[in-house]
Amino acid sequence: CGIVAYVGQQEALPIIIKGLKRLEYRGYDSAGVALIDGNGLNVYKKKGKVSELENHLTSQGDLVSKIGIGHTRWATHGEPNDVNAHPHYSSNEEFAMIHNGIIENYDVLKTDLMNRGYQFHSDTDSEVFMKFIEDIHKNNDCSLEEAVRLALHKVVGAYAIVIMNIAEPDTLIAARKGSPLVIGVGVGEYFLASDATPIIEYTNQVIYLDDYEIAVIRNNNLQIKTIENVETNPYINKLEMELEAIEKGGYEHFMLKEINEQPRSIADCMRGRLDAKNGRLILGGLRDYMNKFQNADRIIITACGTSWHAGLVAEYLFEEFARIPVEVEYASEFRYRNPVISEKDFVIAISQSGETADTLAAIELAKSKGATIFGVCNVVGSSIARATHAGCYTHAGPEIGVASTKAFTAQISVLTMMALMLGYQRGTLTESKYVQLLNELEGIPGKVEKALKMNSNVEKIAEIYKDSRNFLYLGRGYNFPVALEGALKLKEISYIHAEGYPAAEMKHGPIALIDEEMPVVFIATKDTSYEKVVSNIQEVKARKGKIIAVVTEGDTVVRGMADHVLEIPDTAEAFVPLLSVIPLQQLSYHIAVMRGCNVDQPRNLAKSVTVE
Ligand code: G6P
Repeated sequence: CGIVAYVGQQEALPIIIKGLKRLEYRGYDSAGVALIDGNGLNVYKKKGKVSELENHLTSQGDLVSKIGIGHTRWATHGEPNDVNAHPHYSSNEEFAMIHNGIIENYDVLKTDLMNRGYQFHSDTDSEVFMKFIEDIHKNNDCSLEEAVRLALHKVVGAYAIVIMNIAEPDTLIAARKGSPLVIGVGVGEYFLASDATPIIEYTNQVIYLDDYEIAVIRNNNLQIKTIENVETNPYINKLEMELEAIEKGGYEHFMLKEINEQPRSIADCMRGRLDAKNGRLILGGLRDYMNKFQNADRIIITACGTSWHAGLVAEYLFEEFARIPVEVEYASEFRYRNPVISEKDFVIAISQSGETADTLAAIELAKSKGATIFGVCNVVGSSIARATHAGCYTHAGPEIGVASTKAFTAQISVLTMMALMLGYQRGTLTESKYVQLLNELEGIPGKVEKALKMNSNVEKIAEIYKDSRNFLYLGRGYNFPVALEGALKLKEISYIHAEGYPAAEMKHGPIALIDEEMPVVFIATKDTSYEKVVSNIQEVKARKGKIIAVVTEGDTVVRGMADHVLEIPDTAEAFVPLLSVIPLQQLSYHIAVMRGCNVDQPRNLAKSVTVE
């Protein structure tokens, strides 16, 4: 979900609506705002996108307010409808609250409140949270701020909240645990948001609220306290983000923009770190931990979604170059199965948003067992970036499209640099091989540029297969995770069922699905498993499957067998994923557009999953 709040001298509503649109990638089931105007504290909310809320608001007359809170929702408790949308009122309609996250003990709290006469209009845990605060406020005869503080001691779960109240029309109270909250500090005004994107056009001074902290902005004055009531001294960070980075810049969709940005985002990721001419590779984030990394018994990689696929690529990279055993774990599985972890393990957590709840929980678990945790995040200042011992940012720039593209290639770029550095330090990679690979890596952005040129061919293929009901993606070695990623991209944005498989495993199951209706995407680049993949292509061809193959430039063998080929430049085997994923991203994009799907905001998904 996305939160925006404002208090200051400007009109709050336009700022909040614009901010909600910038945050819409975090959830878009319903949206709402609360304002304090001449008629008191009013809540307006609507199922659907922020634009529907906007339409609803135009019929409400002039909404003049210098303070307000807004929310765009990704449903957890209760279906997306007007009632379940945020903000939620207190019973007496004196307070209104927006909430991100999930309250785990809401059931117990709700039963108790109901027994004492409270009525609930929605199915949300957030309304329970609001009324729980209201109840404490009433029974303890304390300030709202104090009631929030006391309530936070009792709720179990994750939250970022902002509350306003009619009795104090110049006051916003906010708190966080587990869900992000950024405070923008302007001149005579404050902004609150789930991430910095709604804030950057107004100020570059931000404070990242920490877990168990409460912020009170009253009468243009900010005070931050812990939930133990101890005042803290907030640190003001300077945002480096540019406004144009979060706008579409002439592209029809953010996803297309982000696919096409990859030559630059990969170069940005390597800038200042890789200097092939002088045989130098420096990752500042690793400096203090190189010793631990080098001497680790094992590397454990934990992540979710696309980031998990980047982790799978890294397994091949670390094992090949550094000869350290690697395990790649879904964060959601890892955290619940009492994993064997020791101080000799080096844990790498990968996350574009840096906010994924399961990944964050996996980090805390590994930390408690004494492991060293290294973060590979895209969002600067995010929770995961701050929870890890050290890390490297991917520097891909803001990724807005829900389906991850440039963040994936930037993650792989960081992990590739880490593996090369580690291999070189450990002596498992010779100097000459190391230098040769550094040179090749430096040339990758140019090769990505070339790979992108397949776009019009990809579009033609998309036209032919856009109505298919199923797709199979097959690859081996470094291209196996790419097959998984290609299938995920298609599923996410076009709603076509797709499976990724290691090509050789096809004969143990998926081969039963193959007939003349089934498009099979092979990643068949010239590498150590090329001959084997060629045999797998024959197996599909013999069963009349339709073959779309991603091949190395100049390939003639696969060209003679496949229905369609998409060429990518030749490179070192370990770097192929950075190129082979490009046409697969384009394929999913074009198919989704042709099917009339909402590419940037696919149904049911959210960019940043801050619930478990
Ligand atoms: C969501 C997004 C995916 C992303 C995954 C992990 O499901 O829709 O694109 O890969 O979360 O997110 P993270 O921010 O941790 O990389």
